[in-house]
Amino acid sequence: MSVLIQNGRIITAVDDYHADIFIENETIRIIGTELSIDADIRIDATNRYIFPGGIDPHTHLDMPFGGTHSSDDFETGTAAAAHGGTTTIIDFAIQNKGSSTLDGLDIWHQKAAGNSFIDYGFHMIVTDMQKDRLFELKRLAEEGVTSYKMFMAYPGVFYSDDASLFRTMRKAGENGTVVCIHAENGIVIDEIIQSALLEKDKRGPKWHAYTRPTRMEAEGVSRAVAIAEVAESPVYIVHLSCSDALDEVKRARNRGIPVYAETCPHYLFLDQSKYESPGFEGAKWVMTPPLREKWNQDKLWTGLQFGDLQAVATDHCPFCMKEQKELGKDDFSKIPNGAPGIENRMSLIFNGGVIQKRISLNKFVELTSTFAAKMFGLFPQKGTIAVGSDADLVIFDPNRKETISVNHPLTHHMNVDYSAWEGFEVQGLSETVLSRGKIIIDHHQMKGRKGHGQYIKRGLYTGIP
Ligand code: URP
Ligand code: ZN
Ligand code: ZN
Repeated sequence: MSVLIQNGRIITAVDDYHADIFIENETIRIIGTELSIDADIRIDATNRYIFPGGIDPHTHLDMPFGGTHSSDDFETGTAAAAHGGTTTIIDFAIQNKGSSTLDGLDIWHQKAAGNSFIDYGFHMIVTDMQKDRLFELKRLAEEGVTSYKMFMAYPGVFYSDDASLFRTMRKAGENGTVVCIHAENGIVIDEIIQSALLEKDKRGPKWHAYTRPTRMEAEGVSRAVAIAEVAESPVYIVHLSCSDALDEVKRARNRGIPVYAETCPHYLFLDQSKYESPGFEGAKWVMTPPLREKWNQDKLWTGLQFGDLQAVATDHCPFCMKEQKELGKDDFSKIPNGAPGIENRMSLIFNGGVIQKRISLNKFVELTSTFAAKMFGLFPQKGTIAVGSDADLVIFDPNRKETISVNHPLTHHMNVDYSAWEGFEVQGLSETVLSRGKIIIDHHQMKGRKGHGQYIKRGLYTGIP
C-alpha cells in the first residue's frame, strides 16, 4: 500500500517547507518536490499544514480511580485521540500495591491489545517499590516501559514516601530510565482536606482548589528535584499547573539539573473561577492539581516559550457527571479526579499558541509531539517527518474555525457526558490523519479500525531530549 501526499506545507520542530511525501507501507520513503510516483492513494494537501502525529504522553484510559473507572477505554479514547490529531499516546499502567509491576503491565496490555486505533506505549505507576522489587525496573525497561510515575499525592492510594522515591530514582538513573512525578505534598493536603470537611459549608467542588495550595505543589517539585539530584536521575514533572511550581523547575534547570516538565491545556486556558459555576457544575474541572488563579496562565505560556516547560500533555482522565462525578455530590474529596481532553489538545494549543502568536509553528510541533518522542524513547520513529520515520501524519486545516462542544460531531468523540471546553472557539482543526501509513481519519470521518494501533516498545532516555 502506498500513499502520495502532495502540495502540503511540512512542519517539523525545525523545518517549514512545501513538498510531497511518498509513503510505502508504514513508513515515509521519499520527501521531495513535485514527486511523480504512482501511488495507490493520492491526497491533495494544498493550503494545509502537515504535522507529525501528535504524541500525548499522559493519558489514563480505563483507569480504576476514585471508586470508579475513567470513562474512556482504549477503544473510545484512542478513537477520540485520532480525531484530534494524536497518533501516539503513553498511558499509565498501574502496579497494584503488593503485586509485581510486571503484573500491572500485563493488565494494561490486556486492556489495550486489539482495541486501540493508534499506537501506544506505557509508563508504569509505581505504588510499592520495596528493595526486593527493584530488579523489576530493568525488566520493565526490556519490555519498553522506560519511565515510571510516582505520586507524592494521594496518601493511601498511589502515594510513595521519599525513601521509595529515592530508591526508584537511583535505579532509574542507573538503568537509563526516567521517573515522572506527581508533585504535591499529599500529606499536608490531606490534613487541609480533613479540616475543611469538618465544616458543613466546605463540601462543594470549589474546596478541591482551596485545599490544594500552589505552595504544596511547589514544595513537591522542590523535594522531587532534590531527591532526583542526589539519586543522579533525571526527573519529569507531570501536569505542572502554576507559577510557584514552575519557579522551582526554573531554579533547578538554571543549576544544570536534568528536570523536565509538562503542563496541560486546562492550566493554560481555564482558571479556578470555573469552580464557582452554579450547583455541582464545578465538578467538571475537579482534577489534580486543580485549576489555578488566572494570572498563572501567562507564566506557563512564558515557560513554554522559553523552554522551561517542554511539553503539553492532556492528563486525559474523564469521568461522566452522571453517576461518576456525582459520587462526590456531598463531599468534594469524593469527586473522581480528572477531566477529558485527549481530543482537543492540538486545536487548543494551535489556537492559543500559534494563532494568538505566542509560539511558532515549529514550537507547536515540539510541544505536541517531538519533545515527548525524544524524552520517552520514541524518536525518530515518531515525533518528526523524515525518511524512515513512521508515517504518522496530521493534515491540518489552519483556517477552520469550530466551537468545541459535547454536541459537536467534529470536536467530541470522547465517551464522557460533558466537554471541559464547552463553547470554546478554536481556529485550526485536524482533517485527515495517518497512522503508520494508514488513513485512519479522512476529512474528519473515522476510517481506522480498532486493533490497528500497536504497542510501541520505547527506548531509553538519551540524556539529550
Ligand atoms: O486529576 C487527575 N490528574 N487525575 C488523574 C490522576 C493523576 O494524578 O494524574
Ligand atoms: Zn498525577
Ligand atoms: Zn495523570
